[in-house]
Amino acid sequence: MKVTVVGAGNVGATCAQIVAEKNIVQEVVLLDIKEGISEGKALDLWQTAPINWYDSRVTGSTNDYSKTANSDVVVITSGVPRKPGMSRDDLISINAGIVKSVTENIVKYSPNAKIIIVSNPLDVMTYVAYVASKMPKTQVMGMAGILDTARYRAFLAEALNVSPRDISALLMGGHGDTMVPLPRYTTVAGIPVTELIDEEKLEAIVDRTKKGGGELVNLMGTSAWYAPGSAAAQMVEAIILDQKRIFPCCVKLEGEYGLSDIFVGVPVKLGKNGVEQVIEVKLNDAEMELLKGSAHAVKSVMDVVDGMNIL
Ligand code: NAI
Ligand code: 2OP
Repeated sequence: MKVTVVGAGNVGATCAQIVAEKNIVQEVVLLDIKEGISEGKALDLWQTAPINWYDSRVTGSTNDYSKTANSDVVVITSGVPRKPGMSRDDLISINAGIVKSVTENIVKYSPNAKIIIVSNPLDVMTYVAYVASKMPKTQVMGMAGILDTARYRAFLAEALNVSPRDISALLMGGHGDTMVPLPRYTTVAGIPVTELIDEEKLEAIVDRTKKGGGELVNLMGTSAWYAPGSAAAQMVEAIILDQKRIFPCCVKLEGEYGLSDIFVGVPVKLGKNGVEQVIEVKLNDAEMELLKGSAHAVKSVMDVVDGMNIL
């Protein structure tokens, strides 16, 4: 099995490192447009293999897509990240062009790959990759929900002084301030979270989750990479090992949740065929309103991309 990560920046290099350390594939290829950076990072990573005890061969390539041929899974992280004061949507014009050309190159050499998009604005870049790839919707998906849910779970674990491993949560919608964490589907070792924390504290955590990406941009001057890289690697693992795991991922909806022709985060089953099922959980009226509002926000940015006439 072979995994390619496009973009050897903060998120891409972290994702490649975690995939390699999972020791689940024979080869990890890191590709970047910047001369030498992917070869250098790949060499550095490969030199961790004897220390961190894995066999996956890590190699780098400066924009030579023939080196990515026959990848089973491709993670696209290429593009520019947010700087303080920028929203994810501000990245749209630069990243749409990058994601489109990267996807076309990937598909030329790996026509059967499952493609995971990370570049922002996430939901709209997943749409760009889907159109550019001409692949079935089951093969193109975006990473955001695992990250956003992880932030929510980490904040809850801290507030409740419990292990984050015991917190199970669901979050839907676009990867932006309109995302929809769902306290009704949040449990701590099976106990509804609402029984363990008061409403005000929970609301503050939901609010912090929605702004979780911005909090890190303000601290570091650029966006996060450890949790995003780990989240993308978890999706890679679910597909490579055919784990049938249920994660919130950005996918194309065709009628599910009453939404069509939109790319937005919902719970899906990930296995060797990519997105094997979209899971429709029951939402109450207020939750459905929030999901529709979030989908509406994504659609308005999809319309901006359509207006650019690049697809
Ligand atoms: P970075 O700037 O560290 O790395 C991006 C890399 O992409 C650079 O090395 C750059 O040379 C490369 N690149 C640019 N154009 C390329 C092209 N045409 N072909 C190949 N490589 C190209 O940025 P970072 O922090 O790794 O973030 C990457 C993207 O991921 C950004 O758009 C960021 O907003 C997004 N992101 C998304 C998250 C999510 O939850 N979906 C979370 C964190 C970041
Ligand atoms: C994040 O949520 C900015 O999308 C990036 O960290």
